Amino acid sequence: MDVKKFDTVEALNRAAAAEIIDAVKGNPELVLGLSTGNSPIGVYQNLIADHRNNGTSYKDVKTFNLDEYEGLDGNSPQSYRYFMNEQLFDHLDIVLENTYVPSGIGDLARNCADYERQIQEAGGIAIQLIGIGTNGHIAFNEPGTSFDTLTHVAELSQATIAANAKYFPSPSDIPNRAISMGIQSIMNARKVIMVAFGQSKAQAIKEMIEGPITTELPASVLQNHPHAVIFLDSEAASLLSE
Ligand code: GLP
Repeated sequence: MDVKKFDTVEALNRAAAAEIIDAVKGNPELVLGLSTGNSPIGVYQNLIADHRNNGTSYKDVKTFNLDEYEGLDGNSPQSYRYFMNEQLFDHLDIVLENTYVPSGIGDLARNCADYERQIQEAGGIAIQLIGIGTNGHIAFNEPGTSFDTLTHVAELSQATIAANAKYFPSPSDIPNRAISMGIQSIMNARKVIMVAFGQSKAQAIKEMIEGPITTELPASVLQNHPHAVIFLDSEAASLLSE
């Protein structure tokens, strides 16, 4: 793991975005893995600013998102499809048909298999951007999830439901299942970029980097990834030993 620490969240966002921008410039047909939540928003704002100011083009880029809630279609403001359109895709020259988000509607088992096939047909994910849950989850792979999982239907833990409640009108509206890329799907990406900031992530970050590799802390699997880069602010890094 390559751990990079930054004094501010702004500096972290700029640096993580620069890795993606450089990769898109180097390969205009890049296949990018993307994520939702609070963590990637600043990175997306930097991509949008660079697209506007410097003209970096996404017209031949393909994207695959990590996950989607069960039962929410793209018109639902709480869906991850809606989030991605609003936070990123609507502001780039990307072709919407080239942006993939798992579908939480209809035959879920089939949607999962289709998603893995689509990733493979695109040639695999070159760079996967991810965040981390306070319990160490990645995508919706909660503690206890097997490391060999591909895209699957995931049960959300109570901790994750509580953490995501702020995005829903009432806690009872939060789906308790989601379609999620599996841990193996994430490990299959040729490079993984994690962004994490704030005190609430510090314990999970410490265990991910310094603890044992265990399914109890799903992100710890990244110790086995040949090319994982972890972008931290000083708060998220505050419990690390060195
Ligand atoms: C959610 C998502 C994850 C995300 C995590 C952290 O449950 N499924 O992909 O990384 O929570 O979210 P945030 O970035 O809002 O802290």
